[in-house]
Amino acid sequence: MDPDVREKLRKAGKINAEAREYGKGLIKTGASLLDVSDKVEAFILKHGGGLAFPTQISRNDQAAHNCAAHEDKTLFQEGDIVKLDLGVHIDGQVVDSATTINLGEKKYDELVKASREALNNAIKTLGPGVAVTEVGKAIQETIESLGFKPVRNLCGHGIGHYIVHAPPSIPNYNTGDQTKLHDGQLIAIEPFASTGAGLIYEATEAEVFMMVGKKPVRSMITRNVLKEIDTFHGLPFTTRWLAIKFSLPQVNFALRDLQNIGILRAYPPLIDKAHGLVSQAEHSIIVGEKPEVLTRSRE
Ligand code: CO
Repeated sequence: MDPDVREKLRKAGKINAEAREYGKGLIKTGASLLDVSDKVEAFILKHGGGLAFPTQISRNDQAAHNCAAHEDKTLFQEGDIVKLDLGVHIDGQVVDSATTINLGEKKYDELVKASREALNNAIKTLGPGVAVTEVGKAIQETIESLGFKPVRNLCGHGIGHYIVHAPPSIPNYNTGDQTKLHDGQLIAIEPFASTGAGLIYEATEAEVFMMVGKKPVRSMITRNVLKEIDTFHGLPFTTRWLAIKFSLPQVNFALRDLQNIGILRAYPPLIDKAHGLVSQAEHSIIVGEKPEVLTRSRE
């Protein structure tokens, strides 16, 4: 890997880990989801990072992709199992990490542990030439040994320049996928453990969007909003960021228009099919003889 790229990834990783620890400390019963999201994003920016995607805070049966709406009124409730998933970039060099906070009964610490241990064991399998199914196998065995289900239709991923989700897929179970990892490859591993189905479906309403194409746009409102979206470098963004500059009806009109034209794709919250509780742990790692975990916290 290019030394300059590695240096940027290390810097992004350090900010990501610090922001995650900071956010973790803010997530308490009665705290506001919107307030925590805003504060974590401000923290990343203040420390010199770019936002690789909006703060994802998913609770309970939401596995991922829940994001505070404009003027979101949600407060954390006693009993919540909260996933905090953060993306930071430096000049498009992206890192992605996540953790789970248990605001519920002590017994759910086991659920939190399941995804965290699965991540640790997955990292131990890494090396050049290792098949991705070996990573998935370690995740599956760890989560099942603690009595939970790995979420099978969510997976880890490669990361590219200004691209959060690039090939290869890093499965969360033993899929048999023989795709080999190679030296210097940047990947994110993200096991999810569930008390429910271990399969997720997409909710209908999305707050997260990403550009998937470029096409001509007629409406003046849509064009103005698209100019703002262009400043996100093709990375995922959220309604809340656009509502700073435009009225909410204008934003909603433009987002609908852009989806209809095929310029945007929506990423709705991902929900466990049996509405079980879901935990997640994630790190971004450079594959090598000695894998480098970029988003490990230092304390
Ligand atoms: Co990820």
